[in-house]
Amino acid sequence: MRTVDIIAKKRDGLPLSAEEIDFFVQGFTRGEIPDYQASAWAMAVLLKGMDRRETIDLTMSMARSGETLDLSHTAPLVVDKHSTGGVGDKTTLAVAPMVACLGLPVGKMSGRGLGFSGGTLDKLESIPGFRVDLSIEEFFANLKKHGIVVAGQTADLAPADGKLYALRDVTATVPSLPLIASSIMSKKIAGGADAIVLDVKTGSGAFMKTVEEALALGKIMAEIGKGIGRRVTVIISDMNQPLGKAVGNALEVREAIETLRGGGPEDFQEHCLVVAAHMLVLGEKASDADVGRRMLVEAIETGKALAKFREWIEAQGGDARVADELSLLQEAACVQTVPAPLTGYLAGVDAMEVGLTAVELGAGRMKKGDPVEHSVGIEVHRKVGDRVAGGEPLFTIHAQDETSLRKAANRLLAVCRWSQEPVEPLPLFYEVIPG
Ligand code: URA
Repeated sequence: MRTVDIIAKKRDGLPLSAEEIDFFVQGFTRGEIPDYQASAWAMAVLLKGMDRRETIDLTMSMARSGETLDLSHTAPLVVDKHSTGGVGDKTTLAVAPMVACLGLPVGKMSGRGLGFSGGTLDKLESIPGFRVDLSIEEFFANLKKHGIVVAGQTADLAPADGKLYALRDVTATVPSLPLIASSIMSKKIAGGADAIVLDVKTGSGAFMKTVEEALALGKIMAEIGKGIGRRVTVIISDMNQPLGKAVGNALEVREAIETLRGGGPEDFQEHCLVVAAHMLVLGEKASDADVGRRMLVEAIETGKALAKFREWIEAQGGDARVADELSLLQEAACVQTVPAPLTGYLAGVDAMEVGLTAVELGAGRMKKGDPVEHSVGIEVHRKVGDRVAGGEPLFTIHAQDETSLRKAANRLLAVCRWSQEPVEPLPLFYEVIPG
């Protein structure tokens, strides 16, 4: 078998056999297939696609490229959630303790932000002392003792994805359904959770731009998971505008804590309740999503969810006092509110542009390995459909200096669309495919 023939076959739109896919994946993981050939292969897959069988073969081959965790000795049933990536998506920070405090262990490998999309690990690292680089032994120990752990992907879990994702990110080959499905599901399979809620985002700030594309991605990922005995629920959610108000690492941690205290923006609160309720159902802690929701509301009201958050932060070396003293989070040097330039209905706040503006402020990275500035970011005060009076606060920008603040303000004003006629609010969810 020759790599060049496999690339040519996909270039010509032909399906690859399971052996050809495995030859490519294992060869690339071992370093025998160079990056330039892997890049050409990824572009051929992006342009010509893969059928259902090829996508499943690719996922299983990537999952086999490293070790697979067996979590059965830590808890009878471990639940995980995964978002396909978005702007202001700090869901894990709130949902993990909400679910874990109700006795359902949450064990999760998370990623860093790339491009316009933020990453849970960067957000968590804005908490002083918090460690994401846990060994597999520490991951198991924390899961067993505290019922909650969120760590970075180790080099041993689905290493094919780690290598391929880094390459896709710089070769414009991320937005491909088979490549996204195999990337996410290979990690989920290797991560070992028994039940997974997949939050598939759709809209301008998501990789899947239409609901149809998001549904197709969700369905194939559910099929892959169920095919190997995992329980999978798919939620298709909106990412045309940022989720909640805060975009940027420390700002998002602050918003998640406010939500665990019973506050936080309404859309984010609702998003968390729905995702967490489905985790409880999949994990057999609630008979249906309504029951799960009531349990979660109570856990927030009684302070149980916030107590679990403190326990989690402390267990991973962080300063748990942030739960009570938000001022312990870093604050940016320059903070300024941007008023609405006119009176009207907000018709659009392009999520991807807001994400890219936050990256430009320093909150994210355009290249793997770039450092991030935890304190900077954007608060988006209004939602699509809101009637806004000229001069009312529209954004608050948190920047390192005046120049980047002014640049961000101009960019953000340009990404808003306005209407003089009433505008329908955007839905939070489009569809739920229960497990
Ligand atoms: N998230 C992933 O883990 N992989 C992708 O390819 C896209 C989003």
